[in-house]
Amino acid sequence: MSIIVNHLSYVYSQDTAYAVKALKDISFQVEDGEFIGLLGSTGSGKSTLIQHLNGLLTPTEGSVYYNGEDIFEKDYDRRLLRSRVGLVFQYPEHQLFEADVFSDVCFGPKNLGLSKSECELRAYEALKLVGIKDEEFYVSPFDLSGGEKRRTAIAGVLAMKPEVLILDEPTAGLDPKGREEILSLIRRIREDTGMTVILVSHSMSDVAENTERLLVMYQGQLVLDDTPRRVFSEADYMREIGLDIPQVTKVLWGLRKRGFPVRTDAITLAEAKAQIMRLF
Ligand SMILES: Nc1ncnc2c1ncn2[C@@H]1O[C@H](COP(=O)(O)OP(=O)(O)O)[C@@H](O)[C@H]1O
Ligand SMILES: [Mg+2]
Repeated sequence: MSIIVNHLSYVYSQDTAYAVKALKDISFQVEDGEFIGLLGSTGSGKSTLIQHLNGLLTPTEGSVYYNGEDIFEKDYDRRLLRSRVGLVFQYPEHQLFEADVFSDVCFGPKNLGLSKSECELRAYEALKLVGIKDEEFYVSPFDLSGGEKRRTAIAGVLAMKPEVLILDEPTAGLDPKGREEILSLIRRIREDTGMTVILVSHSMSDVAENTERLLVMYQGQLVLDDTPRRVFSEADYMREIGLDIPQVTKVLWGLRKRGFPVRTDAITLAEAKAQIMRLF
């Protein structure tokens, strides 16, 4: 069971004067249960790529396989695929629209043709998983806080019980506390469900602290596919492609330059702390 992306290219507005080559010959494979960070500066093609993984965009060239089947074959059930590969769009709270939180989360399962009681059970479980309190189930989604709205939108995707969860910049526009809430939620979802998770971000710290493998994009190409530690050891290259290394790694480089004997390969806060404590 896996996702295989095979020589995928995508051109927006092909055959017009406005054609944009957004993806260029991308190939990679995702195994069940992986926690992957998809990293790249704005415009590098991240959102375009993930919309191919659940069949929302059709490749200009190349193919995508889900569990061994070509998802762009004529008879492939892409509607079903969209419930298996759940995509949380950037600023998903803009898509809340039902009268109350509970109905909003029921919307996806209802569309799958499930019974009313099954929809409600799933909505309840999903809202519990993202930490929305019972007393908020029947308020208008528009009366929730920013963080709650976003968690409700994530619940709407979880209620479809996807096998793969893809989140497009889920921390965008949140303050540090809101960010950490969403990131710890994503970690918890993964621990509770064992789902495959693809976290799209341009924040080095978000992906360094959380994921096990990084796919790095630059100008429509997949330029690195490696562990976060090895990716962030390429500090100069990262800077060249408009990215950076995590803040804590930079602090260690600064200390090293000033003559302190620290290792500079720490990428998480906990690792950096351990290096600094050794100095005392
Ligand atoms: N609907 C669209 N029409 C034309 N070009 C687009 C459209 N969406 C994105 N692009 C272009 O495709 C490239 C990749 O964009 P995108 O996938 O949104 O990157 P990212 O998510 O990494 O910021 C950019 O050059 C962007 O301007
Ligand atoms: Mg994007």
